[in-house]
Amino acid sequence: MSVDLTQLQAVLDKALQEVQKVIIGQTQVVNLALVTIITGQHALIEGVPGVGKTLLVRTLAGVLGSSFARIQFTPDLMPADITGTHIYRMETNEFTLVKGPVFTSFLLADEINRAPAKTQSALLQAMQERVVTIDRKNYRLPETFSVFATQNPVEFEGTYPLPEAQKDRFMLKIMMTDPTREE
Ligand SMILES: Nc1ncnc2c1ncn2[C@@H]1O[C@H](COP(=O)(O)OP(=O)(O)O)[C@@H](O)[C@H]1O
Ligand SMILES: [Mg+2]
Repeated sequence: MSVDLTQLQAVLDKALQEVQKVIIGQTQVVNLALVTIITGQHALIEGVPGVGKTLLVRTLAGVLGSSFARIQFTPDLMPADITGTHIYRMETNEFTLVKGPVFTSFLLADEINRAPAKTQSALLQAMQERVVTIDRKNYRLPETFSVFATQNPVEFEGTYPLPEAQKDRFMLKIMMTDPTREE
């Protein structure tokens, strides 16, 4: 297989250009995000509220055009809300699988530190193994499965910051800061 690096560069430039129709500035952040996606990895985006974390990931999803899902993490979110669950159907006397939002190519795990560790773990397992376990059965995720999680690093009350050991599931931690005055 031959890899045409000029072609890759052209695709990245085009993607950056499209993202920047929505996101002002943050060029370095957008570049890191694109590298993460192209290499099939996961990224953790940290920054105070309002710097554009959610908007960035939504915009990337639009530009990529791949299947996309968003999970808003909350204190009452359950593992099954991420993975899915088997539902009993009376008509057929059978259990059928209702897949959760994790079954997608590109996933936004928004404000991941708002859910307790058990729920975070359901996602972290999927990220590491690209496999989801529901009621002891394993299901494969797409080859291109990539997760972008966001987290607010200065908010502690009622949150569950990711333990250091779990941060290594992410290839990159991307810090988003305030835009400059000119931007
Ligand atoms: N770099 C940016 N370019 C354009 N709009 C931005 C930017 N940063 C923030 N915004 C605006 O601020 C709003 C809040 O951003 P959001 O993505 O919800 O922030 P966060 O998820 O970090 O709290 C966005 O809807 C957008 O209108
Ligand atoms: Mg947000």
